[in-house]
Amino acid sequence: MAERYGRYEVRGGIGHGGMGTVYRAWDPRFRREVAVKILAANVLADSTARTRFEHEARAIAALEHHAIVPVYDFGEEGGELYLVMRLLSGGSLADRVARGPLPLEELLPVVQRVAEALDHAHARGVVHRDVKPANVLFDGAGNAFLSDFGIARMAEQTASLTGVGVVGSPTYMSPEQAEGRPVTPASDVYSLGATVYEALAGRPPFAADHPLAVLLQHIRDEPPAIAGVQPAVMAAVRRAMAKREPERFGTAGALASALAHTARPEASGPTVATAAPVVPPALPATAVATRVAAPLPRTVVTPAPEERAAAASQPERVIPASGRSRRPPIWIAGAAVVLLGVAMALVQAVWDGGGGARSGTPPTTALAKSDATAAALVVRFKKVSASEDHTCGVKTDGTVACWGDTGLDQATPPT
Ligand SMILES: Nc1ncnc2c1ncn2[C@@H]1O[C@H](COP(=O)(O)OP(=O)(O)O)[C@@H](O)[C@H]1O
Ligand SMILES: [Mg+2]
Repeated sequence: MAERYGRYEVRGGIGHGGMGTVYRAWDPRFRREVAVKILAANVLADSTARTRFEHEARAIAALEHHAIVPVYDFGEEGGELYLVMRLLSGGSLADRVARGPLPLEELLPVVQRVAEALDHAHARGVVHRDVKPANVLFDGAGNAFLSDFGIARMAEQTASLTGVGVVGSPTYMSPEQAEGRPVTPASDVYSLGATVYEALAGRPPFAADHPLAVLLQHIRDEPPAIAGVQPAVMAAVRRAMAKREPERFGTAGALASALAHTARPEASGPTVATAAPVVPPALPATAVATRVAAPLPRTVVTPAPEERAAAASQPERVIPASGRSRRPPIWIAGAAVVLLGVAMALVQAVWDGGGGARSGTPPTTALAKSDATAAALVVRFKKVSASEDHTCGVKTDGTVACWGDTGLDQATPPT
């Protein structure tokens, strides 16, 4: 860390994410504090990085909107690229959710602003790609702002130049991103749905001890019902999180409106009385934790014993989501769980033992296509991959990568 980035004097660290490190800094020209984000090396790790960085920084700055964190400046210091933005002093939605679930009334204005920001960007051809509670920041008055526009895109451009399919934060990732298919505005709608889910539930829609398992859940599983949340709200969240893009809300604003509509007294229905199981109790979440020395996502949730008991005695109430009500029969879910367990055991077989369990959200990053360990995982996971020509691997440091078949040709699995 430098003491100064351009004219900005570093005053302290704020936090560290998968794509960079954020500092509080002083701008002597305007005599105000700002946030300076130093981009992680992997985000812009090639010779054309500087040009693309400038292009993206200008694109973000052009996205002027009352609910988008404004970018003030950008530059390079000692080989490090940095973005200067407004300092938001109210913490993030992730910080807020860490203290407990949000009531819908409290969440609505947040979703409304984030949705406006997304629709504004989408109308200008910009997809965020990394919508998540940690990227929803609050000012001192509690107004929500969406941050980190363009950062994921920078990482993706680097990735495409190096031939890697990038995966964002697995916890909020749309099925199409998990499968390495093209990202569209609908992908942001999905991630906003996952963000709303986490805010209402106090836990993410899908959690497991292994990032790959989370990816597979995004691709295959219905988000479980949230205890105490109205069916109409659940239906809206599930529609936002529909597996197929056309079945989701057409805009982020439509999701916000649907949620606001459920908050009106005449629209409220009965609440779901019992916590539905997040995953069948047999899902080897805890078992895997003991077998695999994998990094733990920060948001791992294991059903409490009483929840599991409730789950065993009471089948999940199926709440039809608009446009989509399919839930696989329980035996298929069971088979998938067994398959996943086998896959996890295979991971153990090829895992190179590094690290031990660590906490923290799996980093949003790319892996080299030729990475031998990950390539071995790709080969091993071939059978559990959800798509014909695409599959995912996880490295010992918790980073996740997805490959098309062509990538495998160049990889050398270890013996
Ligand atoms: N403009 C900002 N003002 C204040 N805090 C910020 C700002 N941007 C990011 N942060 C905080 O810095 C930390 C790291 O952010 P980031 O690098 O974007 O990682 P992530 O989004 O993955 O958490 C987070 O705690 C985030 O809340
Ligand atoms: Mg961020």
